[in-house]
Amino acid sequence: MLRDRSNEPRAAQLREEVLQKVREYFAAAYDEQPFRPGADPVPVSGRVFDEREMVSLVDSSLDFWLTTGRFAEEFERRFARWFGVRECVLVNSGSSANLVALSTLTAEELGDRRLRPGDEVITAAAGFPTTVNPIIQMGAVPVFLDAELDSYNADLTQLEAALSPKTRAVILAHTLGNPYDARLVRDFCKTHDLWMIEDTCDAVGATVAGKQVGTFGDIATVSFYPAHHLTMGEGGAVMMRSPKLRKIAESVRDWGRDCWCQPGKDNTCGKRFDWKLGGLPHGYDHKYTYSRLGYNLKLTDMQAAVGVAQLDKIDDFVVRRKYNARTLSEELSSIPWLALPKEINDGVSSWFGYPIRVLPGSPVTRDELVRCLNEKKIGTRLLFGGNLTRQPAYRDVTHRCIGGLPNADEIMKSVFWVAAYPGVGAEEMRFIAKTINGAAR
Ligand SMILES: Cc1ncc(COP(=O)(O)O)c(C=O)c1O
Repeated sequence: MLRDRSNEPRAAQLREEVLQKVREYFAAAYDEQPFRPGADPVPVSGRVFDEREMVSLVDSSLDFWLTTGRFAEEFERRFARWFGVRECVLVNSGSSANLVALSTLTAEELGDRRLRPGDEVITAAAGFPTTVNPIIQMGAVPVFLDAELDSYNADLTQLEAALSPKTRAVILAHTLGNPYDARLVRDFCKTHDLWMIEDTCDAVGATVAGKQVGTFGDIATVSFYPAHHLTMGEGGAVMMRSPKLRKIAESVRDWGRDCWCQPGKDNTCGKRFDWKLGGLPHGYDHKYTYSRLGYNLKLTDMQAAVGVAQLDKIDDFVVRRKYNARTLSEELSSIPWLALPKEINDGVSSWFGYPIRVLPGSPVTRDELVRCLNEKKIGTRLLFGGNLTRQPAYRDVTHRCIGGLPNADEIMKSVFWVAAYPGVGAEEMRFIAKTINGAAR
């Protein structure tokens, strides 16, 4: 049997030498170069890292723990505190976080408030598919709000019209890091006894009335895909105040098991062989007792280790995203044929990307402009799925729409977004603006 001697002095010394080599490797393999307009690409997003992420990653690889472990524990504790909630459950993607959030709401423990097949969940037509998909996967019916032009968030004036006796929850994303009025949604949900889920996958660091978005509702979700504010490569988190919801979410993530032992631990409950649950015989191993239909959506400790190093930089990342967006706004403000994004009163965006709408009657179409930017190596993206109800995947999905969704259609036709991420700076922003300006001539 393999004996773990990693704490012994020789192993500890070798570990330190390996980590020192990683620092040297980073210095040899990467350096900062001035931006060369037109020659260097300006991607829409990407991982921003230095030797600290690499050291943390290799450190965890030498643990060879592989599944979720000490780095994940540290990340959950520190990120929850930074975010402003009590609980953080790490998962392997933002999409998994939304799946866990919606699955959590179906738990029997939640009594009459639980989400059942046939219930309705209010969401937005313009956005990312995996905000909506878990509603359908739970057998519930998505009710699509139209979007606001210029914030690209859901049109909250339609909330009352969307309400029906079957409504159980609202799940809305803060689009591209630009917050909607989460207070208004919270009040609506309180009045009608609905669950509120904030998809903050794109909005870490965005605030409403000085409070992090994601702290207004019952559950928030976060993504750590490389495009996002923090990265782990792949990863996500489910955030909440309630320890009861945490326990359910963790169980959903971990195969649906009733047991809450951390990987590698046994008998945390002190009665592993003394439970009587369901139709199982008394004493059936708690480790193999399942109280719900779950998944395995855990992440590895190596992913979490990257996240721990990123967490030290989070405030700086958010500041740089805001700065990039502000620079772009200043540079583009004189172009009459563009609509620039607007923030709500009391809302501060933490831009995931910078959205631009090409107005009707403009000298170039959105598609011509995107092509022109592409020729100059400037990356662009559309606003995710545009009007999701027009996507082939939703053709046969039972849903309701509030009105004809004209703004979601408009977004699909005339909006795109460019970089705001901290891997680029003022030079790149000015080049984007100059290229857009030049496209009309
Ligand atoms: C609003 C929103 N929700 C969910 C996700 C899914 O996150 P992930 O790519 O980590 O699955 C994304 C992805 O960018 C997103 O933009």
